[in-house]
Amino acid sequence: MGKPVIFAHRGASAYCPENTMSAFRKAVELGADGIETDVRMTRDGRIVCIHDGVLGRTVSGNEPVRELAWAELSERDAGGWFGPEFAGERVPTLEELMELAEGHDLILNIELKGGSDMPAELPAQVARIVRKYGWLRKTVISSFHHPALAAIRAEEPELETAILYDGHLDKPWDAAFAVSARTIHPSYGDATETMIRSSHAHGCKVNVWTVNDPELARRLIAYGADGIITDVPDLVRQATRDL
Ligand code: G3P
Ligand code: CA
Repeated sequence: MGKPVIFAHRGASAYCPENTMSAFRKAVELGADGIETDVRMTRDGRIVCIHDGVLGRTVSGNEPVRELAWAELSERDAGGWFGPEFAGERVPTLEELMELAEGHDLILNIELKGGSDMPAELPAQVARIVRKYGWLRKTVISSFHHPALAAIRAEEPELETAILYDGHLDKPWDAAFAVSARTIHPSYGDATETMIRSSHAHGCKVNVWTVNDPELARRLIAYGADGIITDVPDLVRQATRDL
């Protein structure tokens, strides 16, 4: 197993508004190895970094993302909710994040958002962008909607894919293999030492979310976790430096 990867969850989201360029740049500044982001598609097919399907919590407005054209969404404020110094931040496109990654050799974890309502073109569009930037070997695609992982692997077999799940699965590697994935993303509540070691024995990598307790991150890495997804990449880095 290689060195564990510290992913900044939605960017360094403890310090900057989630899924904005500020949060992504802050992740780099704090020494994260990678960035996790959530992606959705606008009405006119742009891939954008945003967690919620409907605006309101972090981005001004109240419309569903998929009903807005990029020109409309790009005028909305994605930072003011977090603090006045971030007012006027925009929702980034996936391409903007790819450009940052290129400049810093970052590993990306792109989460395909949505369930059965996910636009059918989303996986293929994401694969196209990752391929265009030459990042196929430095990207993990994850999703709670596992059929989307099968779809993106069919589109681009070089991509690493990871099943996301909440709660407990007895044999998470079986759920991964069912959609041609070889990585699992459990929440920290399901990430025991036995589970991590069994996953490795079955040939599956394990990245754990969302671990904001540095001591827990330390334990998970000692158990063999391949990656930690965290809002506080600096604290996790500090706590795990000697491992
Ligand atoms: O990738 C782990 C985590 O991001 C999944 O949950 O809601 O933060 O996207 P959420
Ligand atoms: Ca996510």
